[in-house]
Amino acid sequence: MTRGRGILPLLIPAATLQAAAAAALPEHRITNIFQPLATPAESEYNIAMLIFAITGVIFVGVAGLIAYTIWRFRQPSDAAQHQEPPQVYGSNQIEVAWTVLPILIVFVLIGVSARVIAAVENASPPQAALKVTVIGHQWWWEVLYPDYNIVTANEIHMPASRDGKNATYLQLQSADVIHSFWVPQLSGKTDLIPNRTNFMWMDPREPGVYVGNCAEYCGTQHANMLLRVVAEDPADFKRWTVEQQKRSVDDTGASGDRAVFESLACVNCHNITGLGKASAGSKFGPDLTHLMSRQSLGSGVITNTPENLRAWVNDPQTSKPGCLMPSMRLTPDELTKVVDYLESLR
Ligand code: CUA
Repeated sequence: MTRGRGILPLLIPAATLQAAAAAALPEHRITNIFQPLATPAESEYNIAMLIFAITGVIFVGVAGLIAYTIWRFRQPSDAAQHQEPPQVYGSNQIEVAWTVLPILIVFVLIGVSARVIAAVENASPPQAALKVTVIGHQWWWEVLYPDYNIVTANEIHMPASRDGKNATYLQLQSADVIHSFWVPQLSGKTDLIPNRTNFMWMDPREPGVYVGNCAEYCGTQHANMLLRVVAEDPADFKRWTVEQQKRSVDDTGASGDRAVFESLACVNCHNITGLGKASAGSKFGPDLTHLMSRQSLGSGVITNTPENLRAWVNDPQTSKPGCLMPSMRLTPDELTKVVDYLESLR
């Protein structure tokens, strides 16, 4: 089967279309379910095509019969107009045929769907598979790598799987309401439900940045709960984990700026590993330990540039109205120092 291009592109906000900081990786900007690039997405694509084909044949048959009937039995000339047409009463053969055929078709559809669902859902993680926990928040994604002791947000790094041997297993949880995790080219949707853990997996075939979005209405900024999967060659992924495990504050000379940051309420919500007690365990907002390694701010709303970061810290409500981070009403001097400090978190 040939794969259509751009049949149903799911358009995403313009901000995420901007070139990423790590521009080396190809960015799959248009999230096209008809161009699957991982096993679960491909299984779902194949079954969707099969069902399109079966229902397409039915549609053409039924629509064709209706069109033929309308034409063949159209209103005759005036002479015959008031005569009753010949009446035909039940035919057992026809009745049986149009009862049994649809039942068979429905069972075939149920059977093939169940097989694909089982194959995708029952796949058990190989011992070596990367495990990632994703927690949905209003309106951002917390991303944890328990085996690596890494906490990040909104961008999920994972190894690409050219040979189909690497897979990443995601544990999906929610901190507040129901969200839905969807990266169309990699897998179907799975909900993140409070007090429950759901699972999904993906094995991106090609390195690249795959964009996705929350797919369950979860409040004002639902549409700006964007996410990125950064699939890298395993060696690059390894390098990323090593960088992320470092304590970024160790290598800053910005201690004056840091003191200003620490004195503000920022630390009540944001953790920065190594910053000390003040921010330890703050999980209400995204972990900022390696903020500068991310491509976007505000869960994909704006690209991560110094100007955008300054504007964001000054008043997040301008870029993302309704988001849970308030404007701290910093003085220009405080703002400069806080932004300088954040810029050092590489
Ligand atoms: Cu989270 Cu919609």
